[in-house]
Amino acid sequence: MKIRRYRESDRDAIRRITAESFEGVSVDNNLEKLFGLAGGTDWQQRKVAGVNAELDAYTDHIFVCEADGQVAGYVTTMVDRSTRIGHIRNLAVDRNRRKAGIGKRLIDKALQYFREEEMEVAKIETMEQNDICRKFYPTFGFKEYARQIYYALRL
Ligand SMILES: CC(C)(COP(=O)(O)OP(=O)(O)OC[C@H]1O[C@@H](n2cnc3c(N)ncnc32)[C@H](O)[C@@H]1OP(=O)(O)O)[C@@H](O)C(=O)NCCC(=O)NCCS
Repeated sequence: MKIRRYRESDRDAIRRITAESFEGVSVDNNLEKLFGLAGGTDWQQRKVAGVNAELDAYTDHIFVCEADGQVAGYVTTMVDRSTRIGHIRNLAVDRNRRKAGIGKRLIDKALQYFREEEMEVAKIETMEQNDICRKFYPTFGFKEYARQIYYALRL
């Protein structure tokens, strides 16, 4: 098992892992439960499109875990060189490979990368309903600093 930088041939696996991973832990999934499809798109399509855009925009700031020649998980990040804040944007592990330490290794890699890039703060968000991550992230030393409420109105 190794953590390495993203390459273009990882894209399909990342899209698949994304589509499978965020049930119950995605803002768009919550919105769909309330209002149904948005413009004919389901929440998974929108989530995959968001991650896909990150693969294009932040190609050099994305890391994957490769196990047995397959992508087993990924983390996407962004570094803001003016504020020196590193942002972990998306993290997911193949559901068949969870609870084997891959998520931890991906976060460790992102934090190591931020230090190399001379970031001064690392930030990450999770949903209140994401029971795993609410326990997982503080184990790295992340401190909660804000909560946000999402509202939607049918037009
Ligand atoms: C969150 C996620 C990336 C963790 O990946 P992972 O490879 O299973 O993580 P690890 O094996 O490194 O485990 C991390 C910690 O979470 C705990 N954990 C993982 N899955 C768990 C589960 N189903 N129930 C309870 N705890 C769990 C582990 O026990 C571990 O804690 P420990 O160090 O005290 O043992 C993975 O569950 C996932 O892809 N979830 C869906 C997408 C998601 O929520 N992404 C993050 C959005 S903010």
